[in-house]
Amino acid sequence: PPAPKRKRFRFFRWAYRLTLLSGLGLTGYLAYSIYVLRHPEEQLEPDPSKKTLVILGSGWGAVSLLKKLDTENYNVVVISPRNFFLFTPLLPSCTTGLIEHRSIMEPIRNILRHKKATVKYYEAEATKIDYEKRVVYISDDSEIKGDVSHTVVPFDMLVVGVGAENATFGIPGVREHSCFLKEVGDAQKIRKRIMDCVETAVFKDQTDEEVKRLLHMVVVGGGPTGVEFAGELQDFFEDDLRKWIPEIQDNFHVTLVEALPNILPMFSKQLIEYTESSFKEEKITIRTKTMVKNVTDKYIEAQVTKPDGTTELERIPYGLLVWATGNAVRGVVRDLMEQIPAQKDSRRGLAVNEYLVVNGTENIWAVGDCAITNYAPTAQVAGQEGAFLARLFNTMAKTEAIETELKKLSVAQQEAKGDEERNHVFEEIKERQRQLRRTKQIGPFQYSHQGSLAYIGKERAVADISWLSGNIASGGTMTYLFWRSAYLSMCFSARNRVLVATDWIKAKIFGRDVSRE
Ligand code: FAD
Ligand code: NAI
Repeated sequence: PPAPKRKRFRFFRWAYRLTLLSGLGLTGYLAYSIYVLRHPEEQLEPDPSKKTLVILGSGWGAVSLLKKLDTENYNVVVISPRNFFLFTPLLPSCTTGLIEHRSIMEPIRNILRHKKATVKYYEAEATKIDYEKRVVYISDDSEIKGDVSHTVVPFDMLVVGVGAENATFGIPGVREHSCFLKEVGDAQKIRKRIMDCVETAVFKDQTDEEVKRLLHMVVVGGGPTGVEFAGELQDFFEDDLRKWIPEIQDNFHVTLVEALPNILPMFSKQLIEYTESSFKEEKITIRTKTMVKNVTDKYIEAQVTKPDGTTELERIPYGLLVWATGNAVRGVVRDLMEQIPAQKDSRRGLAVNEYLVVNGTENIWAVGDCAITNYAPTAQVAGQEGAFLARLFNTMAKTEAIETELKKLSVAQQEAKGDEERNHVFEEIKERQRQLRRTKQIGPFQYSHQGSLAYIGKERAVADISWLSGNIASGGTMTYLFWRSAYLSMCFSARNRVLVATDWIKAKIFGRDVSRE
């Protein structure tokens, strides 16, 4: 019958119009967001009457502080040798070219240019913090230097967010012969070395023994960095290397070496077992109870504890050696610790109170891997600490402004002529005092653990997620999809998200690039 047909037709017409309108709205919104990103507003100039807040570092702690800080309240100065923020959770993927390193970098200049008031940035390393003189000595360590490459920056308030360096425990040969995995340069070096080992292994007339050595990829440290890298490397071999260079398929081998009886100690027992069985399936060898004692250019020497409890020294030849045995304190932090008597018992970093103030000081705060709290040195902790400091500093600035006003009002009250004016000032004072009480209500730092995630190769991940005061442990392909979407959404900017997603699609379609730069 004709009537219902017309109704159906009308419905589709309306649905079409609605879709068109929302599409237009979304495009407009996107275009506006991009315009705002590309055309930052004029910034307020520094005000010399304000306090100078110096922030050391451009990592998780420092950048999350900068993101939420009302920069108009202070003269903010950022000092870091790295002029970008690095999204470290996806760094292991850069070692095999699954993700291009620029996709997980966000220029610090972009971040700072969008703040309300100007933030000064110096690309330099803080070489010394003089607590007594309240100055930071900085040095430009880049290739190009001007007439001045060392100078001093005074501070009223200082935030130390310099992270940590790679732990080597003084083991001979580690610095000379292995690759670390902390910075972009490390990932690039690993990527180059993998291909160098492969191409050298297939060099004409190479001996069998040397081929085996060159294609033995050894990872030391069974923490999440070592595990994620081992998984990524095996994926690279399975998905790409063996297809393009079939000669290597019988000898390419990944071994993960760990001193403790099991890998991933921070995950639940169930997930440790899952990871171990998954690695077995992927043909990654795990050597637990194996402590590396010495490193040479072609082999490592490790003390292996056998099932009967006896130990023996074993030589393990390698082509590529990646060293991922955790964090050590940076020199600049150690030096600061030595200047402060209250830090004399600290070993792993700056001891801080519940407001992240460095113990023994009143104007220095520490965030992230260089601060010692009750939590693991992770991006999650550093990010939350940075956000907490931003709230604290915003509050401090507001409090100071109200207190200054209160002082002015009390003078005005004394000088007031007549009851009416006095009462008016009195009411104002009461209101400001109420504001002050509200503003001052900022509790100590409290960490909220969202869970731990790690990629383990073969499109599988493990996750210990905090859920309604309980814990969910899961591993497998669904967890991997969750891992991907979680990290994609956590990327610093929309630009990073687009680039990372594009890299994943590119690798799925064309495979990873096996050329050596
Ligand atoms: P960083 O982010 O390391 O930043 C330190 C900053 O200080 C850098 O900008 C550096 O250039 C700068 N700096 C260094 N020396 C100086 C100096 N002398 N003067 C001035 N500036 C200086 N954590 C998670 O929670 N989830 C993950 O999935 C995860 N994956 C990771 C993967 C890898 C490969 C690695 C290495 C770490 C991973 N982490 C992860 C840990 C996480 O990256 C760190 O805990 C986090 O980066 C710590 O933040 P931070 O701000 O203290 O230090
Ligand atoms: P880690 O400290 O977590 O693990 C290092 C491992 O190396 C330890 O298990 C240790 O027993 C082992 N080791 C030390 N010396 C050794 C030796 N001589 N021989 C053999 N093994 C040795 O270090 P990692 O993985 O670098 O992580 C550092 C921090 O970053 C951790 O807090 C970690 O939680 C965090 N992180 C988190 C990730 C995630 O959540 N997905 C990924 C990467 C890092």
